[in-house]
Parts: sequence; structure tokens; C-alpha cells
Amino acid sequence: MRLQVIWITILQAAMVKSLKEVSGYLGDNVTLPSEAGASWNLSKIEWSIFTNNTWIATYRNGRENIERFHQYKGRLSLNTTTGDLTIHNLSRKDAMDYSVDLENAEGQNTANKIKLTVTERLQKPNIEVTVYGPTEGNCAVRLRCSSDDQGVNFTWRVKLPIVIVTNTQDHYGSSVVAFLNTTQSGAEFTCTSIRQNENNSRSVFPECSVKPPPTPTASPLSPEKRCRYGVTVFVGVILGCLLSAVMFFFGDQIKAAWKFIKGNLRPLHNSAETEG
Ligand SMILES: *[C@@H]1O[C@H](CO)[C@@H](O)[C@H](O)[C@H]1NC(C)=O
Ligand SMILES: *[C@@H]1O[C@H](CO)[C@@H](O)[C@H](O)[C@H]1NC(C)=O
Ligand SMILES: *[C@@H]1O[C@H](CO)[C@@H](O)[C@H](O)[C@H]1NC(C)=O
Ligand SMILES: *[C@@H]1O[C@H](CO)[C@@H](O)[C@H](O)[C@H]1NC(C)=O
Ligand SMILES: *[C@@H]1O[C@H](CO)[C@@H](O)[C@H](O)[C@H]1NC(C)=O
Ligand SMILES: *[C@@H]1O[C@H](CO)[C@@H](O)[C@H](O)[C@H]1NC(C)=O
Repeated sequence: MRLQVIWITILQAAMVKSLKEVSGYLGDNVTLPSEAGASWNLSKIEWSIFTNNTWIATYRNGRENIERFHQYKGRLSLNTTTGDLTIHNLSRKDAMDYSVDLENAEGQNTANKIKLTVTERLQKPNIEVTVYGPTEGNCAVRLRCSSDDQGVNFTWRVKLPIVIVTNTQDHYGSSVVAFLNTTQSGAEFTCTSIRQNENNSRSVFPECSVKPPPTPTASPLSPEKRCRYGVTVFVGVILGCLLSAVMFFFGDQIKAAWKFIKGNLRPLHNSAETEG
């Protein structure tokens, strides 16, 4: 054993090519390429953990052994033609440097070193929906998209001819505000989170529906008192400013919505969507 370790160390020092990086997703399978030449008829394949030369999978004299190390029990498969090693059901502990030593039928040797990184798949984004209204058949809908993952960007896709008033993006997520009326149903808002070459989406279908009238205990408030409600102030200020700027250019729907915004605006239902 000791001699083997020394021999492997010398071989690695002499023959290891530049470190190749391979990335896999947690719970998925990943294949570490041996990079043996296509013409090589492999007679020996030895995969080991680079840092301490522990063998994890070997092929010698036509015999394969992929049950050498407890951490990988039942999770390895070796392609004895190509020398490639597949690790199944990746765990975070698998992220380290690997080394493969190869020998062909002519007695030639080569070695290769691979750095494996394990990353988590991008999760579905979350969409928080707030519907204001309806008043005179119109609703304002505010949708906020966020992600539990770091460093993602967002895009929105909206089906149906809905007027999008704002689309703002900040460090934590992306929001859109749109107008719906009670005759529109099936409006679909899809938020896609994007990270490098990965993306994941969630869709919601907010409705502008007539809800039962308020319970008698909720006595009507004076306009002054109503203005103190944070959400009314927020939507009033934000939408009011934007609307006054854009209403000039839009048709009757915006005018109806504007009238509604100036009217008795209050949140009707507020829900955080978790399933898409
Ligand atoms: C991973 O490998 C196992 C065993 O070969 C297979 O059943 C499974 O479908 C593979 N998973 C993926 C995501 O390719
Ligand atoms: C590869 O090598 C083995 C063992 O030396 C031999 O039996 C086999 O015929 C060779 N195959 C090819 C395609 O050269
Ligand atoms: C070699 O490294 C692996 C991973 O770090 C570890 O689990 C294993 O116990 C080490 N083996 C020896 C003989 O030190
Ligand atoms: C080994 O890899 C080659 C090339 O990718 C493939 O054609 C062959 O089916 C694989 N063999 C096994 C046993 O998976
Ligand atoms: C609702 O919106 C649709 C599409 O913009 C429009 O055709 C319809 O007239 C609107 N209905 C009301 C009551 O505003
Ligand atoms: C999301 O990924 C899929 C598959 O990789 C790709 O076809 C699609 O264009 C991507 N969408 C966005 C918005 O990047």
C-alpha cells in the first residue's frame, strides 16, 4: 500500500495535466471525464481522491471495483471503455479534487485531475400578489417577485392585453403594477428568475373579482382617516405620480383606473403564492 501511494504520487507529479473543472447539481448525477484518448484500449483505470490518494473506483485485469470507499457506496458507475466515472445523487461532500490514472494495452500511462464543484439548482421564484379593488369594475394588481437564491435577475411575461403601469427592480426582487377589470379573467403573470445560464419560473393568475360587501362591523371611514392607511398612501403616491404622467397617452381604461385610484382604494385580498 505504501509503495502504491508513493508510486501514485510520483506519477501524479509527473503526468497530471492542468486541472479541469466540472460542475454538478446537488442530488443529480455528474460524469467526470477521464479524457483518455479515443484510440486507447484501457487496461487499467484508477480513480482516486486527489488530496489523499484514496482509491474510489478501479478497473484492473478486467475487474471493476466501484465499492472501495464508503462515501460513494452504490453511487458510482465506471465506463470501462472511456474511463469516465459517474457519481450519482451528488452530495456537497463530493465537491473536491479527483484524479484518474490510466494505462492502455500497450503499457502507456496518463493521468488527469478534475475539480468537482457542487451547486444547488435555482429555486422557483416567489410571487406575492396584492389586488386593490374592484371599484367600478377595475382593479390595480401589484405583483412582487423575489427569490431565495442570491445573484438572480428577473423578467416578467404577461398574457392578455393588460396595461402595465410600472416595472421596478431592486436588490430583493422585481415588482409590476397592472390594471385588470372584472371582465378579464385568466390574466397570467409569469416571473422568471435567471442566474447565469439557468432559469426557473412561476406563474400566477390574479383575478379582479367582486367580493362580498364588507362586514357591518367595518364602519365606513371618513376620507381623512382612510388616507392614513399606509397602503392607500403608498399606492396613491406611487401610482398617482406615475399615472398622472402616463394617463395622457392611454385610452379609456387608464382613465377609468385613474378614477378608481382616486376613489376609495383599499386592499381587498392579499396572498403570497407558494405553488405554481
Ligand atoms: C442518475 O443516475 C441514476 C442511475 O443511473 C438514474 O436512475 C437517474 O435517472 C439519473 N438522474 C438524472 C437526473 O439523470
Ligand atoms: C483491448 O485490449 C484487450 C486486452 O489486451 C484485448 O483483449 C482486446 O482485443 C483489445 N481491443 C481492441 C479493440 O483493441
Ligand atoms: C481522504 O479524504 C476523504 C475526503 O476528504 C476522507 O473522507 C477520507 O477519510 C480520507 N482518507 C484518508 C485515508 O485519509
Ligand atoms: C461508455 O461511453 C461510451 C461513449 O460515451 C458509450 O458509447 C458506452 O455505451 C458507454 N458504456 C457504458 C457501459 O456505459
Ligand atoms: C375590461 O378590459 C377589456 C380589455 O382591455 C376591455 O375590452 C373592456 O371594455 C373592459 N371592461 C370594463 C368594464 O372596463
Ligand atoms: C430558460 O431556460 C430555457 C432552457 O435552458 C431557455 O430555453 C429559455 O430561453 C430560458 N428563458 C429565459 C427567460 O432566459
